[in-house]
Amino acid sequence: MNNVLPKHVGIIMDGNGRWTLERGLSRSNGHQAGCDNLKNLASYIYDMGIKYLSVYAFSMDNFKRESKEVNFLMELFIKMFNKEFKFLMDKNIKVVFSGRRENLPKKVLDSMDNIVLNTKENTSGVLNICLNYSGQYEIIDMIKKVIDSKVDINSLNRDNIYKYLYQDLPPLDFVIRTSGEKRISDFMLYQSSYAEYYFPKVYFPDFNEKEFDLALLEYNKRKRRFGGVK
Ligand code: FPP
Repeated sequence: MNNVLPKHVGIIMDGNGRWTLERGLSRSNGHQAGCDNLKNLASYIYDMGIKYLSVYAFSMDNFKRESKEVNFLMELFIKMFNKEFKFLMDKNIKVVFSGRRENLPKKVLDSMDNIVLNTKENTSGVLNICLNYSGQYEIIDMIKKVIDSKVDINSLNRDNIYKYLYQDLPPLDFVIRTSGEKRISDFMLYQSSYAEYYFPKVYFPDFNEKEFDLALLEYNKRKRRFGGVK
């Protein structure tokens, strides 16, 4: 494909639950299928030369779900970070997290710290995992960091403020939310100011390589003007 590649892609991995309804399975099966898909998709995305991928794994508001589902997801994260994400090491991908540490079980925090430590020297790409994340609280936490840093407020602009966010990454070019919902649900609000949005109907476990190619075709049809004229 002769497409222009977005530098930074964000994915709101929605529809794991609904994917299971069609199959008579439990929600846990859906999250497991989502994980399997994420592994394939992330490999595909990095292999094509996209450097930055941010994924919405668990929002602060997801703690409102039943404890059975929350506990399952926490165990799944541990398994992914300790075992299943080893392929990221082979691909030279650095893993970072965005979100608050509070309320996360120690075993989850340990598995997060572990993968961050093991991949911190990797240079081919970055996987930013939004976990216990809220875009609004990220902005509040940014304000707190700015105040603590005692930086000259007048020196701040929309570019250098990034270093006070959870991660200092390039702005998002392309945000995909699967499952047909057309909401951003508190995902990377600051970083997506000029992102192109795409809302495919398929549930996340079915958002495969072919679907990603279709997404890229759509991205290439968009005229990005950044507020200017073309
Ligand atoms: C939304 O689907 C999905 C989640 C809240 C969890 C996303 C997590 C994964 C795909 C696991 C992989 C992630 C990592 C980083 C290991 P939903 O449950 O809201 O689906 P529904 O709207 O159909 O109910």
